[in-house]
Amino acid sequence: MSFQVKNNVYWVGKIDWELRRFHGEEYSTHRGSSYNPYLIKDEKTVLIDTVWGKYSNEFIENLQKEIPLDKIDYIIANHAESDHSGALPELMSHIPDTPIYCTANAVKSLKGHYHQDWNFQVVKTGDTLQLGSRELIFIEARMLHWPDSMMSYLTKDNILFSNDAFGQHFASELMYNDLVDQAELYQEAIKYYANILTPFSALVDKKIKEVLGLNVPVDIICPSHGVIWRDDPLQIVNQYARWANDYSENQITILYDTMWDGTRKMAEAIAQGITEIDKTITVKLFNVARSDKNDLITEVFKSKAILVGSPTINQGILSATAAILEEMRGLKFKNKKAAAFGCYGWSGESIKMISDRLKEGGFQLMNDGIREQWNPGNEAVDNCVRFGKSIALDFR
Ligand code: FEO
Repeated sequence: MSFQVKNNVYWVGKIDWELRRFHGEEYSTHRGSSYNPYLIKDEKTVLIDTVWGKYSNEFIENLQKEIPLDKIDYIIANHAESDHSGALPELMSHIPDTPIYCTANAVKSLKGHYHQDWNFQVVKTGDTLQLGSRELIFIEARMLHWPDSMMSYLTKDNILFSNDAFGQHFASELMYNDLVDQAELYQEAIKYYANILTPFSALVDKKIKEVLGLNVPVDIICPSHGVIWRDDPLQIVNQYARWANDYSENQITILYDTMWDGTRKMAEAIAQGITEIDKTITVKLFNVARSDKNDLITEVFKSKAILVGSPTINQGILSATAAILEEMRGLKFKNKKAAAFGCYGWSGESIKMISDRLKEGGFQLMNDGIREQWNPGNEAVDNCVRFGKSIALDFR
């Protein structure tokens, strides 16, 4: 499968309907994904990126239906991660001398991955490549999300090949933003941002200002995953600008794990207390051991405050709670409040441990947390409701 994006620009990628895990087992992809290389046929023919290595043969077969491989004049490697560079070894075995345009960091990454001395041509922001009637302008996007990341802009057709930025893990045969279910698209776009780009938000903000500052028209944004933005393409740029600036909604998310339902009862009583004070706050509860961690991260991303609960076990916390705390620490959320809770039998270290990890993860602690001994009775439940009320008041 391939299709025309605009004039002599073609999508030559792979829709991966069966993908359910990405980055090894780290990222859930409930709706699959796609890998989006593009072919530009001008006086010179250019291939932008490839696909994940497991689809190399399919990719080469499809590409050959569009163009004989030896007619490809240039390859652009906007990003060296395997989902976009994985088919390079197979492709380069057919056309070994074809120049690969990429950043200096991409040379290091590509050599590190494939141990080949291909014909690398290093480019920087503002460098151009003449194709004939049009040219490609390169824009480095360091740490968005790897040191090697880059975007390419095609003049006259006004297409931004943004690589991972503005992408979504979203398989669809429809391939355009205006044709797919908007709620599904939004969900996958925000999940992608929350789980992958959150730590780099300051750089996202700066890069968006830089790209908009170029004052070049953008008619289409072609990301390397998911659907192409052709209807009001700047909507996703504006959305990224919002997400990159300490984004939150009027939401408190309660994340907990529980052994014998004590910490669950605490979570529910805290939620009741919040709602009794302010019904406009969206309160969501998740048992972290029974929830998809990437979906949880998306909920955390949307929250102004989170409450994290675990009972004490072996002077520590339950492993699913520890895992989500570690995930959140790495994502470096900004400007979000947090507090801990949990029940215990005898030693009761969990809330201190959770509080410490939240603080380490950059959350602003609202208080010292609440702990209740054994399984919460009426008095303990009342304490938790009061705790929820205090959280709601602090939240305002
Ligand atoms: Fe889609 Fe960073 O690779």
